[in-house]
Amino acid sequence: MKEWIIETSGLAKQYGRRKAVDHISLQIRKGDIYGFLGPNGAGKTTTIRMLLGLIRPTSGSVRIFGKDLRKERMGILAKVGSLVESPSYYGHLTGYENLEAARRILGVDKSRIDEVLAAVRLTKDAHRPVKGYSLGMRQRLGIASAMLGQPELLILDEPTNGLDPAGIIEIRELIKSMPAEYGMTVLVSSHLLSEIDLMANRVGIIRDGALLFQDGIDVLRKQAAGSIRLVVSEPEQAVKAVAATGNFAVRQDGGLLLEQLPDDKVAQIVAQLVYAGHSIYRIEEIKRSLEDIFLDMVGGGTSL
Ligand SMILES: Nc1ncnc2c1ncn2[C@@H]1O[C@H](COP(=O)(O)OP(=O)(O)OP(=O)(O)O)[C@@H](O)[C@H]1O
Ligand SMILES: [Mg+2]
Repeated sequence: MKEWIIETSGLAKQYGRRKAVDHISLQIRKGDIYGFLGPNGAGKTTTIRMLLGLIRPTSGSVRIFGKDLRKERMGILAKVGSLVESPSYYGHLTGYENLEAARRILGVDKSRIDEVLAAVRLTKDAHRPVKGYSLGMRQRLGIASAMLGQPELLILDEPTNGLDPAGIIEIRELIKSMPAEYGMTVLVSSHLLSEIDLMANRVGIIRDGALLFQDGIDVLRKQAAGSIRLVVSEPEQAVKAVAATGNFAVRQDGGLLLEQLPDDKVAQIVAQLVYAGHSIYRIEEIKRSLEDIFLDMVGGGTSL
């Protein structure tokens, strides 16, 4: 049996008639960096709020560390760190003092404050009042605060929001290091596939509250693998000839379009066509980017 760190079953949240989250079953393994991907309004934050027990599901269940969130909420949440949409701070206190307040509640060692400040590169600004922090600095402080209790599970809702490109890279590298360095499992949401592609090993794609895809990022990448197009003298006959072998999925589209094939199969088809008297003008590989696949799934444009 697999050890799921997070497992939801038919999790749903309805606001009036609107299905913000529509019966989703998430499965997140220990050590995963799980990218929770979806356009604005897809239901990411609502799902995350339910995972953290901040709002009550309309139906369905949440199990974290194998335990029912409804029954063992406090015990579970003690081992979960989170950052959910614009965290609030005491503006008149410094970054350090804000972390100190959180540290007392968690009851962890004081040395953790310096560690998490260093991890998010806020050491230099730790003693400035938070009201003078930029959006990116507030976001970093939120991540620092989420890491403070050395949680086994970290849930980060769009953690790179408001960060500049250098900040995005730093936070991404930090998140990537978390399973190996701190033994953490991470759920990180984003509306950018490019972002998730660079850090996650598993992806869940949500749109209009429904989970459209959940698997390894490599599975998604395979879908992006290229197809092969042969531009030939008599496409119609050539398609028939290749289809007649029954071995390959082929269709006519600006020539002969074949799903992704290993080189030797391509060579075999080419040889067969040449032998049958066809002229082959070009062999092209057509690749789709991961972004194209994502946009196809969620509906073009809405992810911007
Ligand atoms: N408290 C609420 N009352 C009514 N509708 C809500 C409430 N919270 C969220 N919704 C609706 O639920 C849907 C999902 O919202 P949610 O905030 O979970 O999306 P999201 O994926 O986090 O989007 P974003 O990328 O913009 O943060 C939206 O249609 C939103 O309007
Ligand atoms: Mg959100």
